[in-house]
Amino acid sequence: MTTVTQQTIDRVLVATINHAPVNALNQAARQGLKDALEAFENDRSLVALVVTGSERFFSAGADITEFTRPAQPPSIASLIETIEQCDRPVIAAISGRALGGGLELALGCHLRVGTASSRYALPESKLGLLPAVGGTQRLPRLIGPVEALKAICSGEEIPAKRALELGLIDQIAQGELIPAAVALGKSSQTVPSRANAPITLSAQEREAFDQEAARLLKRHRGQEAIDACVQAVRAAVDGPLEVGLALERELFAKLQEGAQSQAMRHVFFAERRVGKLPASTQADFEPAATVAIVGGGMMGRGIAMSLLDAGLNVTLIDVDETAAGKAVQGVAGQYQRAIDKGTLTEEEKTARMQRLTTAVDIAAVAPADVVIEAVFESMAVKKDIFQQLGRHARPGAVLASNTSTLDLNEIAAASGRPADVVGMHFFSPAHIMRLVEVIRGEKTSLSTLAQALDLTRRMKKIGVVVGVCDGFVGNRMIGKRSQQVDRLLLDGALPRPIDDALTRFGFPMGPLAVNDMAGLDVAQNVRQSRGQVFPVADAICALGRYGQKTQAGYYRYEPGSRKPVDDPEITALIEKVSEQQGVQRRELSEEEILDRTLLPVINEGFRLLEEGMACHADDIDVTLIHGYGWPRSTGGPMFYAEQMGLKTLCAKMEKLAAELGDPAFEPAHLLRALADEGLSVHALSRRDLPA
Ligand code: COA
Repeated sequence: MTTVTQQTIDRVLVATINHAPVNALNQAARQGLKDALEAFENDRSLVALVVTGSERFFSAGADITEFTRPAQPPSIASLIETIEQCDRPVIAAISGRALGGGLELALGCHLRVGTASSRYALPESKLGLLPAVGGTQRLPRLIGPVEALKAICSGEEIPAKRALELGLIDQIAQGELIPAAVALGKSSQTVPSRANAPITLSAQEREAFDQEAARLLKRHRGQEAIDACVQAVRAAVDGPLEVGLALERELFAKLQEGAQSQAMRHVFFAERRVGKLPASTQADFEPAATVAIVGGGMMGRGIAMSLLDAGLNVTLIDVDETAAGKAVQGVAGQYQRAIDKGTLTEEEKTARMQRLTTAVDIAAVAPADVVIEAVFESMAVKKDIFQQLGRHARPGAVLASNTSTLDLNEIAAASGRPADVVGMHFFSPAHIMRLVEVIRGEKTSLSTLAQALDLTRRMKKIGVVVGVCDGFVGNRMIGKRSQQVDRLLLDGALPRPIDDALTRFGFPMGPLAVNDMAGLDVAQNVRQSRGQVFPVADAICALGRYGQKTQAGYYRYEPGSRKPVDDPEITALIEKVSEQQGVQRRELSEEEILDRTLLPVINEGFRLLEEGMACHADDIDVTLIHGYGWPRSTGGPMFYAEQMGLKTLCAKMEKLAAELGDPAFEPAHLLRALADEGLSVHALSRRDLPA
């Protein structure tokens, strides 16, 4: 089929983009649209042109895969210019999503009509870019600069009803889309587009815009794309369209070549590459319809919600009626909050709650296609549950454990059917966090693994396949940072400079504020079980300072507040511990703090690849970004390493290893080998799945 088809309905030419899967505007699509515009220009019997897409996608925008190649004409901008010169109306008829360049094309049309379920977004900032085909200029002119700035900087989708209220679209089609668009085309005269009119703001509106801009710049500090979006929208407020369009193009070109955008585009594709079994893999499974969850605590409830959202039937099993009832209330309460926020309807809540049942007897797992255990992290408890699951679950059902630290092989053995057992390590809160480490045990069958990955995908989560080792991929890597943080405190740093260094790097919170939030006793229990000693952390715990819950940890907290306040008592305590350990404290630079907290984490990533516990560098990048707040704008730890240069990384580590006498800085064999050969870690082919 040609990429853009043309059809005449009632003297209106309808040009339909057909470029599966998402109608990205690649060269063929742009050429097809140009041809349609020429056909329209040349046939004076036509009264209007309607541009439309598929049911799911008007268009997802520019073809991102073309970004690394020289641009081929015609450009989207030139199509919009041609549309603007038309003396008869050009109507965008939008079903599904209009994103990025797709929405910009629609904004360049004279009028827009959408279906009730259509959605609109300029998501370029998520790729470290800005909308570069007039989006930063026309959207503010259509919906006002404050709303436009919010939409452009968040990249979030705007549903049809809101788009109509804002003036982004002119009409929601009552009935079928194309007849509505044809009717609109026939009834409209031409039509200077509102999207090109100058913006005039009152002093008050101007102040509201400045405030919003300042808020966004603060929130996304260090993100070049957000700076650029703000500058471009400001140009729309301050001056004529052509000047704004020129600035937009200039800013885009700079961003596109910059490290942040390259990193964010890498993440976009990495997110889509992970969690896929090789095409050659023969894995038979029936997509699950019913899932039983053992354990109705926070984790079990979050998992239940993700499954209900994905349309599955869920049985929540807990020890007694009270616990099970509480779990259901918890789920209902979360849905109610979503209704209050306007992100869920009453009907959707009812439909989901109708698919949720409870039980107090583990035998209720019998009809389930998948059972997910989400109980307390104790080997004895989990083994007992898996023994019972082995008896009660139907043959062929997948038995998943939500362990975050335990040996999956031991749990699997207890079931008596280890081929059916897989780990699904969800992150809290499970209905929000997208990452799931899908743990392949020694005996996990391919169909079990495929079922777990399919379920993860259906929950709109990102499944990363990992092997069985202490801490799996994420916790094992981030654990290296915890060790270094304690040592930095001992050597001369204080909590605030460490947290500030890492938040400036891009983590949403510093590691010590995170520890205070999670509870210092939790980490201490884990350390004790492993025989690890962290002198500073142990001394803080010895005072009963367990973090926010005791209003004191690395920081102090005012009653009812979660804001960490520097505490002179902690400074004194840390200095005392250094003295007791015979460490001469010294000033530590931000660079040293970053190197000592980040490089061992990265090094562990290379070790995981070397051991086959992770299949590819992409998997590690995605895991740390989605599970641990590693900044997306750096592309993840392995991509950050590549951008630094593996040789430079090795040299830095060797220097630190010599200075500190710490083996954590000895470069992993794989890192050294790649650095010596001048090879890229991302270019290594995806390994066989870890087992
Ligand atoms: N250009 C090129 N390829 C694109 C694309 C784009 N703009 N948007 C999506 N794709 C590809 C994906 O890489 C994926 O390819 P694969 O099947 O080979 O892995 C395929 O289209 C389907 O995308 P996927 O994300 O798996 O489907 P989805 O239905 O979950 O989500 C989108 C669809 C469009 C919402 C999502 O892909 C997206 O956000 N795309 C980026 C949109 C964007 O930023 N546009 C502006 C570009 S500057």
